[in-house]
Amino acid sequence: MSADDTARTIEIETAAALPALLARSYARYSNFTVAAAVIDEHGTVHLGVNVENAAYPSGTCAEQTAIGAMVTAGSRRIARVLIAAGSNAVVQPCGACRQRIAEFAAEDCEIVSVQDGVATKRAPFWSLLPDSFGPRDLD
Ligand code: THU
Repeated sequence: MSADDTARTIEIETAAALPALLARSYARYSNFTVAAAVIDEHGTVHLGVNVENAAYPSGTCAEQTAIGAMVTAGSRRIARVLIAAGSNAVVQPCGACRQRIAEFAAEDCEIVSVQDGVATKRAPFWSLLPDSFGPRDLD
């Protein structure tokens, strides 16, 4: 199997797994459940859900949780971010999460919306956050 085929298979299997993960979201205040998967440059999948808090701004987004899992696992480069919402709507990462993704996003990183366990809308990540401030600005 080619590297592209392997990446496609990983994406299909990950998208299929996200709806079940929504049940683990802790969205007590908004009832807006979100599940995300960050696929790193090696094809390893890191999962996250949103985790809300009684002190509302202390809540975390699903993407944020997944990025934390990726870094904790020792990876540093994001190839894809898959996002599923309990509403089944297409959800794009919030502004703060775009910045978090930018820290680790590969040149060809894509944001992939998942509906009913299937990848639908795709967006090149850097089209969602052009001209951004990032690690290179501090070098
Ligand atoms: N949320 C995410 O987890 N990811 C997104 O991309 C958009 C919003 C969460 C934050 C909050 O827990 C809930 O959705 C409503 O904003």
